[in-house]
Amino acid sequence: MDVYAEAIAALNATLARAEDSGRRNTNAMTLATVNRAGRPSTRTVLLKGLDDEGLTFFTDRRSGKGQDLEAVPYASVCFYWEPIEVQARVDGRMVVLAREHAERDFSSRPRAGQVMIRASAQSQPLASKAALASAVASIEQDYPHEVPVPAFWVGYCLVPDFIELWFGSRDRMHERVAYAKSPEGWHKTLLQP
Ligand SMILES: Cc1cc2nc3c(=O)[nH]c(=O)nc-3n(C[C@H](O)[C@H](O)[C@H](O)COP(=O)(O)O)c2cc1C
Repeated sequence: MDVYAEAIAALNATLARAEDSGRRNTNAMTLATVNRAGRPSTRTVLLKGLDDEGLTFFTDRRSGKGQDLEAVPYASVCFYWEPIEVQARVDGRMVVLAREHAERDFSSRPRAGQVMIRASAQSQPLASKAALASAVASIEQDYPHEVPVPAFWVGYCLVPDFIELWFGSRDRMHERVAYAKSPEGWHKTLLQP
């Protein structure tokens, strides 16, 4: 197995271990983006896919993070799974996935979620909760059967150039395993805790 494939396998295996811990939302990750002025911001998103292509999540392209990624297509994600005492970090370039990924994700969601995605202009100011309820009601009325996938619903894939796993240890000998991409290829190193 090459070093990159080993890193993805290690990340997948750790996610599976976290899932087995019984905690909910073990696929929740903190996503950091930066805007044009170099100011970072973070929020939680759900990881929907992890393979050799990278880490996938879905969002509204018009949102704060969507605007950041439009200006600066680099990002960093971080997971911390407390029950197993492992942190994972991934840095890389963000690419927009082909339309069919967003379509597949949207159609896999319950109707109420689809309606809310359409009714809400994510990250824009909201006049009142009543205004949102009325936007939801009008989407319900417009689409009594299938809710069409909005053009702004998009899948992003973080294509890694750095992956680090941090394994906590009671004796403070925390183990840090880093996989980094260089012009020569992927390298695995241990880092001091
Ligand atoms: C557990 C959890 C999971 C979330 N998953 C997503 C997600 O997959 N996609 C998304 O757009 N927002 C998700 N959110 C909401 C985001 O954290 C955030 O509020 C929203 O995307 C707007 O962020 P922005 O203004 O930085 O773009 C989630 C929030 C939480 C707490």
